[in-house]
Amino acid sequence: MEFTAKSGNPEKQRTACIVVGVFEPRRLSPAAERLDQVSDGFISNLIRRGDLEGKIGQTLLLHNVPNTLCDRILLIGCGRERELHDAQYRKIIATAATTLNDIGAMEAVCYLTELHVKGRDNHWNVRQAVETVENSLYSFDQLKSKKDTTRRPLRKIVMSVASRRELQDSEDAVTEGYAIAQGVKLAKDLGNLPGNICTPSYLAEQALALAHQYDSIDTEILEQKDMEQLGMGALLSVAKGSRQPPKLICMRHTGNGKDKPIVLVGKGLTFDAGGISLKPAAAMDEMKYDMCGGASVFGVMRAVAELKLPLNIIGVVPASENLPDGAANKPGDVVTSMSGQTIEILNTDAEGRLILCDALSYAEKYEPEAVIDIATLTGACVIALGKHASGLLSNHSPLAHDLLNAGKSSGDRAWELPLWEEYNEQLKSPFADLANIGGREGGAITAAAFLSNFTKKYDWAHLDIAGSAWLGGDKKGATGRPVPLLTQYLLDRCKEK
Ligand code: BES
Ligand code: MN
Ligand code: ZN
Repeated sequence: MEFTAKSGNPEKQRTACIVVGVFEPRRLSPAAERLDQVSDGFISNLIRRGDLEGKIGQTLLLHNVPNTLCDRILLIGCGRERELHDAQYRKIIATAATTLNDIGAMEAVCYLTELHVKGRDNHWNVRQAVETVENSLYSFDQLKSKKDTTRRPLRKIVMSVASRRELQDSEDAVTEGYAIAQGVKLAKDLGNLPGNICTPSYLAEQALALAHQYDSIDTEILEQKDMEQLGMGALLSVAKGSRQPPKLICMRHTGNGKDKPIVLVGKGLTFDAGGISLKPAAAMDEMKYDMCGGASVFGVMRAVAELKLPLNIIGVVPASENLPDGAANKPGDVVTSMSGQTIEILNTDAEGRLILCDALSYAEKYEPEAVIDIATLTGACVIALGKHASGLLSNHSPLAHDLLNAGKSSGDRAWELPLWEEYNEQLKSPFADLANIGGREGGAITAAAFLSNFTKKYDWAHLDIAGSAWLGGDKKGATGRPVPLLTQYLLDRCKEK
Protein backbone atom coordinates (compact mmCIF):
# COMPACT_ATOMS: atom_id res chain seq x y z
CA MET A 1 0.00 0.00 0.00
CA GLU A 2 1.13 3.52 -0.74
CA PHE A 3 0.46 6.21 1.87
CA THR A 4 0.86 9.96 1.57
CA ALA A 5 -0.32 13.03 3.47
CA LYS A 6 -2.01 16.10 2.01
CA SER A 7 -4.05 19.10 3.08
CA GLY A 8 -6.97 20.45 1.09
CA ASN A 9 -10.74 20.73 0.84
CA PRO A 10 -12.67 17.52 0.21
CA GLU A 11 -14.77 18.88 -2.68
CA LYS A 12 -11.57 19.71 -4.60
CA GLN A 13 -10.11 16.20 -4.48
CA ARG A 14 -10.04 14.41 -7.81
CA THR A 15 -10.00 10.83 -6.56
CA ALA A 16 -11.85 7.52 -6.73
CA CYS A 17 -13.19 7.94 -3.20
CA ILE A 18 -13.37 10.41 -0.33
CA VAL A 19 -13.80 8.97 3.16
CA VAL A 20 -15.53 11.08 5.80
CA GLY A 21 -17.07 10.40 9.22
CA VAL A 22 -20.60 10.67 10.57
CA PHE A 23 -21.13 10.68 14.32
CA GLU A 24 -24.06 9.21 16.18
CA PRO A 25 -26.84 10.39 16.11
CA ARG A 26 -26.63 11.51 12.45
CA ARG A 27 -24.08 14.28 13.03
CA LEU A 28 -21.69 15.19 10.27
CA SER A 29 -17.95 15.54 10.88
CA PRO A 30 -16.39 18.81 9.63
CA ALA A 31 -15.29 17.26 6.29
CA ALA A 32 -18.73 15.68 5.77
CA GLU A 33 -20.34 19.03 6.65
CA ARG A 34 -18.22 20.74 3.99
CA LEU A 35 -19.27 18.22 1.33
CA ASP A 36 -22.86 18.67 2.42
CA GLN A 37 -22.65 22.44 1.98
CA VAL A 38 -21.19 22.35 -1.53
CA SER A 39 -23.77 19.73 -2.59
CA ASP A 40 -26.76 21.70 -1.24
CA GLY A 41 -27.56 19.27 1.53
CA PHE A 42 -27.15 16.04 -0.48
CA ILE A 43 -25.64 14.16 2.47
CA SER A 44 -27.83 15.54 5.24
CA ASN A 45 -30.91 14.70 3.15
CA LEU A 46 -29.92 11.05 2.91
CA ILE A 47 -29.07 10.88 6.55
CA ARG A 48 -32.33 12.46 7.58
CA ARG A 49 -34.12 9.65 5.76
CA GLY A 50 -32.38 7.25 8.13
CA ASP A 51 -29.75 5.71 5.85
CA LEU A 52 -26.94 6.07 8.38
CA GLU A 53 -27.27 6.49 12.12
CA GLY A 54 -23.50 6.93 12.66
CA LYS A 55 -22.86 3.81 14.73
CA ILE A 56 -19.38 2.35 14.60
CA GLY A 57 -19.15 -0.25 11.86
CA GLN A 58 -21.83 1.37 9.67
CA THR A 59 -20.95 2.53 6.16
CA LEU A 60 -22.76 4.21 3.29
CA LEU A 61 -21.35 4.61 -0.22
CA LEU A 62 -22.54 7.56 -2.31
CA HIS A 63 -22.05 8.12 -6.04
CA ASN A 64 -22.31 11.32 -8.10
CA VAL A 65 -22.50 13.78 -5.25
CA PRO A 66 -23.09 17.21 -6.87
CA ASN A 67 -20.29 19.80 -7.01
CA THR A 68 -17.51 17.41 -5.99
CA LEU A 69 -14.64 16.10 -8.13
CA CYS A 70 -14.51 12.59 -6.65
CA ASP A 71 -16.16 9.44 -8.05
CA ARG A 72 -17.57 8.35 -4.68
CA ILE A 73 -17.96 9.38 -1.08
CA LEU A 74 -17.75 6.75 1.63
CA LEU A 75 -19.46 7.68 4.89
CA ILE A 76 -18.18 5.89 7.96
CA GLY A 77 -20.10 5.65 11.24
CA CYS A 78 -17.91 6.99 14.07
CA GLY A 79 -20.07 6.43 17.15
CA ARG A 80 -20.60 9.21 19.68
CA GLU A 81 -18.16 12.07 19.23
CA ARG A 82 -17.41 12.31 22.95
CA GLU A 83 -16.58 8.60 23.09
CA LEU A 84 -13.97 8.63 20.34
CA HIS A 85 -11.01 6.90 22.02
CA ASP A 86 -8.12 4.83 20.62
CA ALA A 87 -10.10 1.60 20.18
CA GLN A 88 -13.03 3.30 18.44
CA TYR A 89 -10.66 5.18 16.12
CA ARG A 90 -8.94 1.95 15.13
CA LYS A 91 -12.30 0.30 14.41
CA ILE A 92 -13.36 3.25 12.26
CA ILE A 93 -10.15 3.15 10.23
CA ALA A 94 -10.33 -0.66 9.88
CA THR A 95 -13.93 -0.42 8.61
CA ALA A 96 -12.87 2.21 6.09
CA ALA A 97 -9.92 0.12 4.87
CA THR A 98 -11.83 -3.12 4.40
CA THR A 99 -14.77 -1.33 2.76
CA LEU A 100 -12.50 0.53 0.34
CA ASN A 101 -10.80 -2.72 -0.55
CA ASP A 102 -14.17 -4.37 -1.23
CA ILE A 103 -15.74 -1.63 -3.35
CA GLY A 104 -12.86 -1.52 -5.83
CA ALA A 105 -11.97 2.15 -5.36
CA MET A 106 -8.23 1.41 -5.53
CA GLU A 107 -7.33 4.85 -4.19
CA ALA A 108 -8.87 7.20 -1.65
CA VAL A 109 -8.46 10.42 0.28
CA CYS A 110 -9.25 9.80 3.94
CA TYR A 111 -10.52 12.62 6.15
CA LEU A 112 -10.95 10.39 9.22
CA THR A 113 -7.43 11.38 10.32
CA GLU A 114 -8.82 14.85 11.09
CA LEU A 115 -11.22 13.53 13.73
CA HIS A 116 -10.47 14.45 17.30
CA VAL A 117 -9.40 11.38 19.28
CA LYS A 118 -9.35 11.87 23.07
CA GLY A 119 -5.86 12.79 24.24
CA ARG A 120 -4.22 12.20 20.84
CA ASP A 121 -2.71 14.53 18.27
CA ASN A 122 -2.38 14.67 14.48
CA HIS A 123 0.84 12.65 14.48
CA TRP A 124 -0.76 9.83 16.43
CA ASN A 125 -3.89 9.83 14.25
CA VAL A 126 -1.94 9.58 11.01
CA ARG A 127 0.53 6.97 12.23
CA GLN A 128 -2.15 4.85 13.82
CA ALA A 129 -4.23 5.04 10.64
CA VAL A 130 -1.33 3.71 8.55
CA GLU A 131 -0.71 0.86 11.01
CA THR A 132 -4.41 0.03 11.24
CA VAL A 133 -4.95 -0.05 7.47
CA GLU A 134 -2.02 -2.44 7.06
CA ASN A 135 -3.23 -4.58 9.98
CA SER A 136 -6.77 -4.86 8.72
CA LEU A 137 -5.79 -5.78 5.16
CA TYR A 138 -3.22 -8.34 6.28
CA SER A 139 -3.82 -11.90 5.22
CA PHE A 140 -1.66 -14.98 5.41
CA ASP A 141 -2.25 -17.05 2.29
CA GLN A 142 1.31 -18.12 1.43
CA LEU A 143 0.38 -21.73 2.02
CA LYS A 144 -2.96 -21.84 0.18
CA SER A 145 -2.93 -23.13 -3.37
CA LYS A 146 -6.00 -21.05 -4.26
CA LYS A 147 -5.68 -17.48 -3.05
CA ASP A 148 -8.82 -15.33 -2.78
CA THR A 149 -7.71 -12.28 -4.73
CA THR A 150 -9.52 -8.95 -4.56
CA ARG A 151 -10.35 -7.83 -8.08
CA ARG A 152 -9.54 -4.14 -7.61
CA PRO A 153 -7.64 -3.92 -4.34
CA LEU A 154 -6.98 -0.68 -2.48
CA ARG A 155 -3.53 0.56 -3.55
CA LYS A 156 -3.16 4.10 -2.33
CA ILE A 157 -4.49 6.17 0.58
CA VAL A 158 -3.96 9.88 1.05
CA MET A 159 -4.29 10.88 4.69
CA SER A 160 -5.80 14.30 4.97
CA VAL A 161 -4.28 16.88 7.31
CA ALA A 162 -6.29 19.82 8.62
CA SER A 163 -3.64 22.51 8.02
CA ARG A 164 -0.52 22.88 5.89
CA ARG A 165 1.46 23.54 9.08
CA GLU A 166 0.90 19.91 10.08
CA LEU A 167 1.98 18.48 6.75
CA GLN A 168 5.60 17.71 7.65
CA ASP A 169 4.51 16.16 10.94
CA SER A 170 2.04 13.98 9.05
CA GLU A 171 4.62 12.87 6.53
CA ASP A 172 6.90 11.81 9.40
CA ALA A 173 3.96 9.96 10.94
CA VAL A 174 3.34 8.13 7.66
CA THR A 175 7.00 7.10 7.49
CA GLU A 176 6.99 5.83 11.08
CA GLY A 177 3.67 4.08 10.70
CA TYR A 178 4.73 2.36 7.52
CA ALA A 179 8.04 1.17 8.99
CA ILE A 180 6.26 -0.17 12.08
CA ALA A 181 3.64 -1.84 9.89
CA GLN A 182 6.35 -3.59 7.89
CA GLY A 183 7.95 -4.79 11.12
CA VAL A 184 4.58 -6.02 12.35
CA LYS A 185 3.99 -7.81 9.07
CA LEU A 186 7.33 -9.61 9.28
CA ALA A 187 6.57 -10.67 12.87
CA LYS A 188 3.09 -11.91 11.86
CA ASP A 189 4.36 -13.84 8.85
CA LEU A 190 7.05 -15.60 10.88
CA GLY A 191 4.57 -16.30 13.67
CA ASN A 192 1.92 -17.73 11.38
CA LEU A 193 4.28 -20.09 9.60
CA PRO A 194 3.94 -23.64 10.93
CA GLY A 195 6.62 -25.42 12.90
CA ASN A 196 7.58 -27.71 10.04
CA ILE A 197 8.54 -24.72 7.90
CA CYS A 198 9.60 -22.14 10.46
CA THR A 199 12.42 -24.12 12.13
CA PRO A 200 15.45 -22.65 13.90
CA SER A 201 17.37 -22.95 10.61
CA TYR A 202 14.60 -21.12 8.76
CA LEU A 203 14.74 -18.27 11.28
CA ALA A 204 18.52 -18.12 10.87
CA GLU A 205 18.09 -17.81 7.09
CA GLN A 206 15.59 -15.00 7.56
CA ALA A 207 18.09 -13.16 9.77
CA LEU A 208 20.71 -13.48 7.04
CA ALA A 209 18.14 -12.21 4.54
CA LEU A 210 17.54 -9.11 6.70
CA ALA A 211 21.28 -8.40 6.69
CA HIS A 212 21.21 -8.71 2.93
CA GLN A 213 18.24 -6.39 2.62
CA TYR A 214 19.48 -3.60 4.90
CA ASP A 215 22.96 -2.07 4.93
CA SER A 216 22.70 -1.18 8.62
CA ILE A 217 22.14 -4.83 9.68
CA ASP A 218 24.78 -7.52 10.17
CA THR A 219 23.86 -11.04 11.17
CA GLU A 220 25.88 -13.71 12.90
CA ILE A 221 24.59 -17.24 13.56
CA LEU A 222 26.04 -19.28 16.42
CA GLU A 223 25.83 -23.03 15.80
CA GLN A 224 25.55 -25.85 18.31
CA LYS A 225 29.34 -26.24 18.57
CA ASP A 226 29.75 -22.51 19.24
CA MET A 227 27.17 -22.75 22.00
CA GLU A 228 28.94 -25.80 23.44
CA GLN A 229 32.15 -23.79 23.62
CA LEU A 230 30.33 -21.01 25.44
CA GLY A 231 28.93 -23.51 27.93
CA MET A 232 25.26 -22.89 27.12
CA GLY A 233 24.13 -26.05 28.88
CA ALA A 234 20.60 -24.82 29.55
CA LEU A 235 19.79 -23.81 25.97
CA LEU A 236 21.41 -26.93 24.52
CA SER A 237 19.54 -29.22 26.90
CA VAL A 238 16.24 -28.09 25.39
CA ALA A 239 17.49 -28.64 21.84
CA LYS A 240 18.71 -32.19 22.63
CA GLY A 241 15.18 -33.52 22.28
CA SER A 242 14.83 -32.27 18.72
CA ARG A 243 16.21 -33.28 15.35
CA GLN A 244 16.45 -29.65 14.31
CA PRO A 245 19.79 -28.06 15.21
CA PRO A 246 19.47 -25.05 17.54
CA LYS A 247 20.65 -21.61 16.43
CA LEU A 248 21.62 -18.52 18.36
CA ILE A 249 20.74 -15.72 15.96
CA CYS A 250 22.48 -12.37 16.51
CA MET A 251 21.48 -9.35 14.43
CA ARG A 252 23.13 -5.97 14.79
CA HIS A 253 21.77 -2.63 13.57
CA THR A 254 24.50 0.01 13.62
CA GLY A 255 23.03 3.50 13.54
CA ASN A 256 25.63 5.33 15.51
CA GLY A 257 29.35 4.99 16.12
CA LYS A 258 29.71 5.18 19.84
CA ASP A 259 26.64 4.51 21.99
CA LYS A 260 26.21 1.37 24.03
CA PRO A 261 23.64 -0.88 22.39
CA ILE A 262 20.12 -1.77 23.43
CA VAL A 263 19.87 -5.56 23.28
CA LEU A 264 16.56 -7.28 22.48
CA VAL A 265 16.40 -10.98 23.30
CA GLY A 266 13.45 -12.89 21.81
CA LYS A 267 12.31 -16.42 22.61
CA GLY A 268 12.50 -18.37 19.35
CA LEU A 269 10.95 -21.70 20.35
CA THR A 270 9.69 -22.82 16.95
CA PHE A 271 7.44 -25.52 18.39
CA ASP A 272 6.72 -26.26 22.04
CA ALA A 273 5.22 -29.70 22.62
CA GLY A 274 6.35 -29.47 26.25
CA GLY A 275 9.04 -32.14 25.96
CA ILE A 276 8.75 -35.15 28.29
CA SER A 277 6.31 -33.04 30.37
CA LEU A 278 4.12 -33.27 27.28
CA LYS A 279 1.36 -30.72 26.78
CA PRO A 280 -2.28 -31.82 26.34
CA ALA A 281 -3.40 -32.20 22.71
CA ALA A 282 -6.05 -29.45 22.68
CA ALA A 283 -4.83 -26.35 20.84
CA MET A 284 -1.27 -27.66 20.83
CA ASP A 285 -0.96 -26.34 17.26
CA GLU A 286 -0.86 -22.86 18.81
CA MET A 287 2.56 -23.67 20.19
CA LYS A 288 3.96 -22.86 16.75
CA TYR A 289 3.55 -19.30 18.07
CA ASP A 290 6.14 -19.93 20.77
CA MET A 291 8.69 -18.08 18.64
CA CYS A 292 6.70 -14.84 18.54
CA GLY A 293 9.13 -13.10 20.92
CA GLY A 294 11.90 -13.88 18.44
CA ALA A 295 9.66 -12.82 15.55
CA SER A 296 9.05 -9.46 17.26
CA VAL A 297 12.81 -8.94 17.45
CA PHE A 298 13.01 -9.53 13.69
CA GLY A 299 10.16 -7.06 13.22
CA VAL A 300 11.81 -4.37 15.32
CA MET A 301 15.14 -4.84 13.51
CA ARG A 302 13.32 -4.31 10.23
CA ALA A 303 11.48 -1.21 11.49
CA VAL A 304 14.62 0.43 12.90
CA ALA A 305 16.57 -0.33 9.73
CA GLU A 306 13.75 1.17 7.62
CA LEU A 307 13.77 4.26 9.80
CA LYS A 308 17.59 4.37 9.92
CA LEU A 309 17.38 5.07 13.65
CA PRO A 310 20.63 6.57 15.00
CA LEU A 311 20.92 3.94 17.73
CA ASN A 312 22.84 0.70 18.08
CA ILE A 313 20.45 -2.19 18.50
CA ILE A 314 21.23 -5.85 18.84
CA GLY A 315 18.69 -8.62 18.42
CA VAL A 316 19.47 -12.01 19.92
CA VAL A 317 17.13 -14.92 19.20
CA PRO A 318 17.81 -18.30 20.79
CA ALA A 319 15.99 -20.75 18.51
CA SER A 320 15.10 -24.37 19.26
CA GLU A 321 12.24 -26.85 19.32
CA ASN A 322 10.96 -28.50 22.51
CA LEU A 323 9.91 -32.10 21.81
CA PRO A 324 9.73 -35.42 23.66
CA ASP A 325 12.50 -37.81 22.60
CA GLY A 326 14.90 -40.38 24.04
CA ALA A 327 17.55 -37.68 24.27
CA ALA A 328 15.22 -35.01 25.68
CA ASN A 329 15.49 -33.40 29.12
CA LYS A 330 13.84 -35.46 31.86
CA PRO A 331 12.22 -34.09 35.00
CA GLY A 332 14.91 -34.02 37.67
CA ASP A 333 17.79 -33.48 35.23
CA VAL A 334 20.33 -30.91 36.36
CA VAL A 335 22.07 -28.74 33.76
CA THR A 336 24.75 -26.07 34.00
CA SER A 337 23.99 -22.72 32.40
CA MET A 338 26.52 -20.43 30.72
CA SER A 339 26.55 -18.31 33.90
CA GLY A 340 27.76 -21.34 35.88
CA GLN A 341 24.51 -21.55 37.85
CA THR A 342 23.04 -25.05 37.90
CA ILE A 343 19.35 -25.65 37.19
CA GLU A 344 17.14 -28.55 38.20
CA ILE A 345 14.60 -29.09 35.40
CA LEU A 346 11.46 -30.10 37.28
CA ASN A 347 9.20 -29.51 34.29
CA THR A 348 10.56 -29.77 30.76
CA ASP A 349 7.72 -27.55 29.56
CA ALA A 350 9.28 -24.57 31.34
CA GLU A 351 11.83 -24.48 28.51
CA GLY A 352 11.57 -20.83 27.51
CA ARG A 353 13.48 -19.67 30.56
CA LEU A 354 16.15 -22.31 29.86
CA ILE A 355 16.93 -21.02 26.37
CA LEU A 356 16.55 -17.40 27.45
CA CYS A 357 18.85 -17.58 30.47
CA ASP A 358 21.85 -18.49 28.32
CA ALA A 359 20.96 -15.88 25.70
CA LEU A 360 20.72 -13.31 28.52
CA SER A 361 24.17 -14.28 29.81
CA TYR A 362 25.49 -14.02 26.28
CA ALA A 363 24.06 -10.46 26.03
CA GLU A 364 26.59 -9.31 28.66
CA LYS A 365 29.32 -9.33 26.04
CA TYR A 366 27.71 -6.38 24.26
CA GLU A 367 28.08 -4.16 27.37
CA PRO A 368 24.48 -3.11 26.88
CA GLU A 369 22.78 0.13 27.84
CA ALA A 370 19.72 -2.04 28.57
CA VAL A 371 18.44 -5.52 27.75
CA ILE A 372 14.79 -6.29 27.00
CA ASP A 373 13.63 -9.85 26.53
CA ILE A 374 10.38 -10.73 24.84
CA ALA A 375 8.84 -14.17 25.30
CA THR A 376 5.63 -16.17 25.14
CA LEU A 377 6.73 -17.42 28.52
CA THR A 378 3.79 -18.41 30.69
CA GLY A 379 0.17 -19.45 30.48
CA ALA A 380 -0.11 -17.76 33.90
CA CYS A 381 0.42 -14.37 32.25
CA VAL A 382 -2.58 -15.01 30.00
CA ILE A 383 -4.66 -15.82 33.07
CA ALA A 384 -3.45 -12.66 34.84
CA LEU A 385 -3.79 -10.10 32.03
CA GLY A 386 -5.75 -11.73 29.24
CA LYS A 387 -4.93 -10.84 25.65
CA HIS A 388 -4.95 -7.06 25.97
CA ALA A 389 -1.68 -6.35 27.74
CA SER A 390 1.80 -7.82 27.71
CA GLY A 391 3.24 -8.51 31.16
CA LEU A 392 6.19 -6.30 32.11
CA LEU A 393 8.73 -7.05 34.83
CA SER A 394 12.00 -5.20 35.33
CA ASN A 395 14.96 -4.75 37.65
CA HIS A 396 15.19 -1.02 36.81
CA SER A 397 12.15 1.18 37.31
CA PRO A 398 13.09 3.98 34.83
CA LEU A 399 13.29 1.35 32.09
CA ALA A 400 9.93 -0.12 33.09
CA HIS A 401 8.44 3.37 33.13
CA ASP A 402 9.73 4.14 29.60
CA LEU A 403 8.36 0.85 28.25
CA LEU A 404 4.96 1.35 29.88
CA ASN A 405 4.77 4.83 28.35
CA ALA A 406 5.82 3.54 24.92
CA GLY A 407 3.01 1.00 25.23
CA LYS A 408 0.47 3.71 26.04
CA SER A 409 1.48 6.01 23.23
CA SER A 410 1.75 3.28 20.59
CA GLY A 411 -1.52 1.63 21.64
CA ASP A 412 0.37 -1.65 22.25
CA ARG A 413 0.09 -1.74 25.99
CA ALA A 414 1.96 -3.51 28.78
CA TRP A 415 1.13 -3.82 32.47
CA GLU A 416 3.68 -4.14 35.22
CA LEU A 417 3.86 -7.04 37.67
CA PRO A 418 6.11 -6.97 40.76
CA LEU A 419 9.50 -8.60 40.77
CA TRP A 420 10.16 -8.72 44.50
CA GLU A 421 12.99 -10.73 45.98
CA GLU A 422 10.47 -12.91 47.87
CA TYR A 423 9.37 -14.64 44.66
CA ASN A 424 12.85 -16.15 44.29
CA GLU A 425 12.15 -18.35 47.33
CA GLN A 426 9.78 -20.39 45.19
CA LEU A 427 12.68 -21.35 42.91
CA LYS A 428 14.79 -23.10 45.56
CA SER A 429 16.00 -26.60 44.71
CA PRO A 430 17.53 -29.19 47.06
CA PHE A 431 19.80 -30.40 44.25
CA ALA A 432 20.82 -27.35 42.20
CA ASP A 433 21.22 -23.57 42.46
CA LEU A 434 17.76 -23.02 41.00
CA ALA A 435 14.67 -24.99 40.02
CA ASN A 436 13.11 -24.13 36.67
CA ILE A 437 9.57 -23.84 38.08
CA GLY A 438 8.15 -22.11 41.14
CA GLY A 439 4.75 -23.73 41.57
CA ARG A 440 1.30 -22.50 40.54
CA GLU A 441 1.28 -19.26 42.49
CA GLY A 442 2.41 -16.17 40.57
CA GLY A 443 3.61 -18.23 37.63
CA ALA A 444 4.34 -15.26 35.34
CA ILE A 445 6.34 -13.62 38.12
CA THR A 446 8.38 -16.65 39.16
CA ALA A 447 9.31 -17.17 35.50
CA ALA A 448 10.66 -13.61 35.39
CA ALA A 449 12.29 -14.11 38.80
CA PHE A 450 14.10 -17.11 37.35
CA LEU A 451 15.46 -14.92 34.52
CA SER A 452 16.46 -12.18 36.97
CA ASN A 453 19.21 -14.49 38.24
CA PHE A 454 20.89 -14.08 34.85
CA THR A 455 20.47 -10.32 34.36
CA LYS A 456 22.24 -8.89 37.39
CA LYS A 457 24.94 -7.12 35.35
CA TYR A 458 22.65 -4.72 33.44
CA ASP A 459 19.33 -2.87 33.40
CA TRP A 460 16.76 -5.35 32.20
CA ALA A 461 13.08 -5.67 31.42
CA HIS A 462 11.06 -8.72 30.49
CA LEU A 463 7.90 -8.68 28.36
CA ASP A 464 5.70 -11.77 28.69
CA ILE A 465 3.67 -11.78 25.47
CA ALA A 466 1.97 -15.16 25.95
CA GLY A 467 -1.42 -13.39 25.80
CA SER A 468 -0.74 -10.59 23.33
CA ALA A 469 1.31 -12.34 20.61
CA TRP A 470 -1.56 -14.10 18.85
CA LEU A 471 -5.33 -14.35 18.71
CA GLY A 472 -7.49 -17.45 18.58
CA GLY A 473 -11.03 -17.97 17.28
CA ASP A 474 -12.17 -16.48 13.99
CA LYS A 475 -9.37 -13.90 14.06
CA LYS A 476 -6.77 -16.62 14.56
CA GLY A 477 -3.29 -15.40 13.79
CA ALA A 478 -0.18 -13.66 15.08
CA THR A 479 -0.61 -10.00 16.09
CA GLY A 480 2.92 -8.74 15.52
CA ARG A 481 2.96 -7.36 19.06
CA PRO A 482 5.00 -5.91 20.72
CA VAL A 483 6.74 -4.48 17.63
CA PRO A 484 4.84 -1.14 17.97
CA LEU A 485 5.69 -0.83 21.69
CA LEU A 486 9.39 -1.58 21.21
CA THR A 487 9.77 0.62 18.14
CA GLN A 488 8.08 3.45 20.04
CA TYR A 489 10.48 2.95 22.94
CA LEU A 490 13.42 3.24 20.54
CA LEU A 491 11.92 6.29 18.78
CA ASP A 492 11.50 7.93 22.20
CA ARG A 493 15.15 7.22 22.99
CA CYS A 494 16.19 8.97 19.77
CA LYS A 495 14.24 12.09 20.77
CA GLU A 496 15.84 12.10 24.23
CA LYS A 497 19.31 12.34 22.74
N1 BES B 1 5.24 -21.49 25.71
C1 BES B 1 4.70 -21.84 26.96
C2 BES B 1 3.84 -20.73 27.56
C3 BES B 1 2.48 -20.55 26.97
C4 BES B 1 1.45 -21.43 27.27
C5 BES B 1 2.21 -19.47 26.19
C6 BES B 1 0.19 -21.24 26.75
C7 BES B 1 0.94 -19.25 25.68
C8 BES B 1 -0.06 -20.14 25.96
C9 BES B 1 5.81 -22.14 27.95
O1 BES B 1 6.92 -22.75 27.42
C10 BES B 1 5.23 -23.07 28.96
O2 BES B 1 4.91 -24.18 28.60
N2 BES B 1 5.11 -22.61 30.20
C11 BES B 1 4.55 -23.39 31.23
C12 BES B 1 5.37 -23.17 32.47
C13 BES B 1 5.00 -24.08 33.60
C14 BES B 1 5.40 -25.51 33.25
C15 BES B 1 5.71 -23.62 34.83
C16 BES B 1 3.11 -22.91 31.44
O3 BES B 1 2.86 -21.71 31.39
O4 BES B 1 2.25 -23.76 31.61
MN1 MN C 1 6.71 -24.86 27.37
ZN1 ZN D 1 7.29 -22.43 25.45
